[in-house]
Amino acid sequence: MKKNIVLLPGDGIGEEVTASAQRVLDAVAHQFNHTFTYQTEAIGGAAIDEFGTPLPEATEKACHASDAVLLGAVGGPKWDENPSHLRPEKGLLGIRKSLGLFANLRPVQGFAELLHASPLKHEVVNDSDLLIVRELTGGLYFGTPSERRDDGASVVDTLAYERSEIERIVRKGFEAASVRRKHLTSVDKANVLESSKVWREVVNEIAPEYPDVTVEHMLVDAAAMKLITAPTDFDVIVTENMFGDILSDEASVLTGSLGMLPSASLREDGFGLYEPVHGSAPDIAGQGLANPFATILSAAMMLRYSFAMQKEAETIEKAVDSVLKQGYHTGDLNVKNGQKVGTKEITDYVIEM
Ligand code: NAI
Ligand code: MG
Repeated sequence: MKKNIVLLPGDGIGEEVTASAQRVLDAVAHQFNHTFTYQTEAIGGAAIDEFGTPLPEATEKACHASDAVLLGAVGGPKWDENPSHLRPEKGLLGIRKSLGLFANLRPVQGFAELLHASPLKHEVVNDSDLLIVRELTGGLYFGTPSERRDDGASVVDTLAYERSEIERIVRKGFEAASVRRKHLTSVDKANVLESSKVWREVVNEIAPEYPDVTVEHMLVDAAAMKLITAPTDFDVIVTENMFGDILSDEASVLTGSLGMLPSASLREDGFGLYEPVHGSAPDIAGQGLANPFATILSAAMMLRYSFAMQKEAETIEKAVDSVLKQGYHTGDLNVKNGQKVGTKEITDYVIEM
């Protein structure tokens, strides 16, 4: 198959980790007789520096014309004092919105070799395998008004949803649960928020369409606690934009490092943008130390969800697992025995496997 992939390296370690993922994709293309072509475009701080905007029109156009997008990360101290329209994150939020990517899938899986890398007890982390389905284009991050009022003495953000927006993400949650362990946890704050009460209504309305899926409602504060005390109780979590953002970072401690977590952001038709959950890690950027697994595993998700290349995706996932089994790891992973290597070397091992 022929596929055209847009690469958006962004800032900091974004460049290093997308380069790794591209090399792995090339190895897969070679092995399975596919042709992947790449077009690299600017986003985030790099785009602000070069084009004066975090999301240049050319980038948006290229993404719309592509078969899938692979992104690194955006942001860094250089742009922290910028006014809000010149913030790197605007590029990321903008491209997700422009492409209509409403469903963010974040699988969190404990790798057996990394049990010790987690600060949690391994009997707690053991066998945890969950999927967070986060709503991505609505909710608190996009509601208006969102502004300082008057002389700055008061301020407002808005958590707004159309019923239809809740319905489509909740359906994604049910669909995901129905091909996994058939357990859906809908996370909200229905004891306080009106939007959450409607969210709960929608979940209960849709539930009869998926009779084999067990549904549970959980308040977000309780979910935050359960994620690190009883993570194996979860299969699929479906939740609002900000709740999902926070819970997925929290869930990353199950794997031992942010550097292990991939994500997919999908549109109704399966088109997607794939990116690691972590940020641009300015503290280690440019030093060849970044863990590329989150981005490599995001590329595997791209093959699975956008290109229907199941075998190819599994080949990557198995290769990552084998490299970990052999004890190779980057510095972010607290692995007792084994050998610490850099970004390029660990990518070489993945390709070899
Ligand atoms: P971060 O995820 O960049 O880094 C947090 C810590 O984890 C750092 O110590 C970093 O070195 C480490 N880390 C993260 N990814 C790693 C990897 N692949 N390999 C090895 N170590 C890794 O989050 P932080 O420090 O809060 O933010 C840094 C910048 O990134 C900020 O400008 C922030 O706005 C931006 N950011 C961007 C995101 C995105 O593009 N999706 C998401 C989160 C933050
Ligand atoms: Mg986040």
